[in-house]
Amino acid sequence: MEEDYAQMEKNYVMRTWAAQRNVKVLPIKDAEGAYFTDINDKKYMDFSSQLIAANYGHKNQKVNQAIIDQLNTYSYIAPGLGAPIRAKLAKKLTEIAPGNYRKTFFSTGGAEANEGGVKAAKYYTNAFKVISRYTSYHGALGISISLTGDPRRYTKNEPGYPGVLHAVDPYCYRCPFKMTYPECNLLCAEAIRDQILMEGKDTVAALVLEPIVGSNGVIVPPPGYYERIREICDEFDVVWIDDEVMAGFGRFGKMFAIEHWDASPDIITMAKGLTGTYVPLGATLMSDKISDFFEDNIYVHGATYAGHPLACAAGLASIKLYEEEKLIENAQKLEPVFEKRLNEIKEDHKSVGDVRGKGCFWGVELIKDSKTHEPASTRDEKFAPGPTIPGRVQQECFKNGIFFVQMISTLLLAPPIIVSKEEVLKGLDVVDEALKISDKECK
Ligand SMILES: Cc1ncc(COP(=O)(O)O)c(C=O)c1O
Repeated sequence: MEEDYAQMEKNYVMRTWAAQRNVKVLPIKDAEGAYFTDINDKKYMDFSSQLIAANYGHKNQKVNQAIIDQLNTYSYIAPGLGAPIRAKLAKKLTEIAPGNYRKTFFSTGGAEANEGGVKAAKYYTNAFKVISRYTSYHGALGISISLTGDPRRYTKNEPGYPGVLHAVDPYCYRCPFKMTYPECNLLCAEAIRDQILMEGKDTVAALVLEPIVGSNGVIVPPPGYYERIREICDEFDVVWIDDEVMAGFGRFGKMFAIEHWDASPDIITMAKGLTGTYVPLGATLMSDKISDFFEDNIYVHGATYAGHPLACAAGLASIKLYEEEKLIENAQKLEPVFEKRLNEIKEDHKSVGDVRGKGCFWGVELIKDSKTHEPASTRDEKFAPGPTIPGRVQQECFKNGIFFVQMISTLLLAPPIIVSKEEVLKGLDVVDEALKISDKECK
């Protein structure tokens, strides 16, 4: 008799971000390309690349083979010894990054990549304060959960790391200053400058910013925002850490989302799409300036798995795939498909307040009052029992074979960037239908 894996997982696996009793487990038995199949043989289209991470889909044979080849050479060599595959990947990152970068600290995920970046910034500046934004997620570890702006920080994870401060967001749909771009003159960036001055300009080590906010609602800053952030960081010698963990590797139609602006960060952190999730890997890529500093200053940081060869093999093979199979170009081609269809959907549904995104990652923000734009769900409901309105829309889509994740008031639509126009439209038709649920709750 088949084991009851759902019950087994429920009994023995500690589920993330949840009280365990009411967790429902659906074991998945297979995944290929943009699809996965559950234990009951039901097939789903993966419309958010799992956690916006399996960027080129599941079971890619080229990446699998690269991992197997490395496994047959050796699976592990200590970070203190050299590993050709690690050297090759580190060099490759300097070739694909938008600016002058040299050294990479490798780790095993996004949170660690950010922690490695904050440490580098602190040593480099000899300052300790770090500013991130309220509408953000940067990971679940000591520093990174403190950097996080959303309820995952202040629900049980405080007090946090000393010196972390939060700034307002470039969230035009809900502008913190109730202004409109471009008349606002990028007040949200100027507010960060003021914050640095108020805190004492010599005490601020770094700004940690998602280039386009991911899980907190696909918030795309307006033109000129990061050019101004660059000027502010230069003015006060603050290190700008660009958290590309979710945004990088084609997601927004560029290798790195920051390429949508004309500004180079000092440190780029990445994970997820770097290996398409095939093996866990985080990377903290440092500019020439920061790399030079550590020639004679100790980088007081490390980990057993820093630069794990299997992960580096997956990383190198993934980048090759993005380049050779023109996956970034495919994400670009899908942008007008999403944009057009989602705007039609917005017209047809009063509960859709805003649709926004780039490339192959789009947010659909739901509201429950079409006049006041009151969000369909709030931060306070993040850990409340029972599904929220966006949660119910998501569940309806899942029932109909389309899987994606949602957060607070926004549906996060981000299929693997290998999908076709037809597949995007098919997924969006299912979303369209399910939005009747949120329409019923909208005044
Ligand atoms: C922008 C961003 N940074 C950091 C992280 C943390 O990455 P990880 O879960 O690999 O630690 C995430 C995870 O979703 C993320 O979206």
